[in-house]
Amino acid sequence: MWSGLWLWPLVAVCTANTFREQAERIMQDTPVIDGHNDLPWQLLNMFNNQLLDKRADLNTLTGTHTNIPKLRAGFVGGQFWSAYTPCDTQNKDTVKRTLEQIDVIHRMCQLYPETFMCVTNSSGIRQAFRERKVASLIGVEGGHSIDSSLGVLRTLYHLGMRYMTLTHNCNTPWADNWLVDTEEDNAQSHGLSPFGKLVLKEMNRLGIIVDLAHVSVATMRAVLSQSSAPVIFSHSSAYRICEHRRNVPDDVLQLVNQTGSLVMVNFYNDYVSCKGEANLSQVADHLDHIKKVAGAGAVGFGGDYDGVLRLPAGLEDVSKYPDLVAELLRRNWTETEVRGALANNLLRVFEVVEQVSNHTQNPEEEPINLDKLEGSCRTQYGYSAAPGLHHQWGVLLAALAPLLLSWCLL
Ligand SMILES: *[C@@H]1O[C@H](CO)[C@@H](O)[C@H](O)[C@H]1NC(C)=O
Ligand SMILES: *[C@@H]1O[C@H](CO)[C@@H](O)[C@H](O)[C@H]1NC(C)=O
Ligand SMILES: *[C@@H]1O[C@H](CO)[C@@H](O)[C@H](O)[C@H]1NC(C)=O
Ligand SMILES: *[C@@H]1O[C@H](CO)[C@@H](O)[C@H](O)[C@H]1NC(C)=O
Ligand SMILES: *[C@@H]1O[C@H](CO)[C@@H](O)[C@H](O)[C@H]1NC(C)=O
Ligand SMILES: [Zn+2]
Repeated sequence: MWSGLWLWPLVAVCTANTFREQAERIMQDTPVIDGHNDLPWQLLNMFNNQLLDKRADLNTLTGTHTNIPKLRAGFVGGQFWSAYTPCDTQNKDTVKRTLEQIDVIHRMCQLYPETFMCVTNSSGIRQAFRERKVASLIGVEGGHSIDSSLGVLRTLYHLGMRYMTLTHNCNTPWADNWLVDTEEDNAQSHGLSPFGKLVLKEMNRLGIIVDLAHVSVATMRAVLSQSSAPVIFSHSSAYRICEHRRNVPDDVLQLVNQTGSLVMVNFYNDYVSCKGEANLSQVADHLDHIKKVAGAGAVGFGGDYDGVLRLPAGLEDVSKYPDLVAELLRRNWTETEVRGALANNLLRVFEVVEQVSNHTQNPEEEPINLDKLEGSCRTQYGYSAAPGLHHQWGVLLAALAPLLLSWCLL
């Protein structure tokens, strides 16, 4: 009796170690694919994208959540790097800024070929796993990056973009953002505008994953009912656990389940606990909840590292994923469920997106209506001659004006 009691603390310590060891064993062959990391934004902010600057060496980089040793310690085997441009670039230099962030991701792969492997498809991710490299993919955040142009969308696809977040914290002319649901912004498209539906169709045709982080609930619903492929939330958590509008409500989680889609949980304290402070166990509460409502196949990780200021105790940087996995094991997640959350759920979604894509189908061509575009530096080439003229009464009148004028002068 006495000796039995004496042993209890030891047993507790040993089980704790076992969960961490089991996590590492699982992650040896199923490393984590994280949905959203803003290191490229840090590289712009800190070094103006000058990667050869000694301070920008990713082996020794300090002051960030992400560097190469931390990625290795965290068993990160796949990362959607964010090509992010802030909303204040909308209608200004957003396309240029997006191209520069895509370039900096390509250059990370060129500069550290023993660590990063830029890939553009699911078999490339599996190849990187085998070579023990970080499969590096490009996610564009957000939809303002295409400047309402299907031609720009297609070109970003050719440059490697494999998901696009439909909005950041601002409406685009064709999709609404989450601030509509807090009434800080006005609803404009009420989900997706007619042009937004074309953007969705073209993303499905090309094989670009639709990312619903940052969008309004109406936009979530519109996409989940109209997309011909499953979608992701690359960095969003559960609204039921923390009632922040960046999170996913339960009724939407049910649509996520029905469409085989995926929620990659964000670690930002404000979305985890709705407070300035949070801990690893509270992140596990979000994972548990999404598993309960949408199924274990609908759960993933989207830490938002280097894109946020406050992170939970126990998840301070990208080296900590194995501790979160150990916590899920402690909560009786099966090995299969854990492997799903780590990588297999994302691979499943990506593979269906690839199967649905069809490059022999005709591309969408109809441009957005000119009167939907803002910004004073815009030219209007093409609009006066386009076959879609009947959609643009303003342009039509402008084109007819000289004719009418000369007729009056006769
Ligand atoms: C995947 O991408 C690689 C290039 O990274 C390409 O060689 C390969 O053909 C692609 N695989 C499929 C199935 O499209
Ligand atoms: C995490 O935070 C919650 C809420 O403050 C608290 O109840 C819990 O004990 C904490 N867990 C750990 C392991 O620190
Ligand atoms: C959706 O829910 C059903 C029924 O609970 C479950 O069998 C299925 O695995 C879930 N889908 C995902 C993607 O988890
Ligand atoms: C996990 O399963 C064990 C054994 O069935 C049980 O005793 C324990 O309460 C479960 N833990 C949780 C967090 O569900
Ligand atoms: C792809 O689109 C073409 C043209 O619309 C069609 O003929 C073909 O059947 C489609 N392929 C698949 C696999 O759906
Ligand atoms: Zn974001």
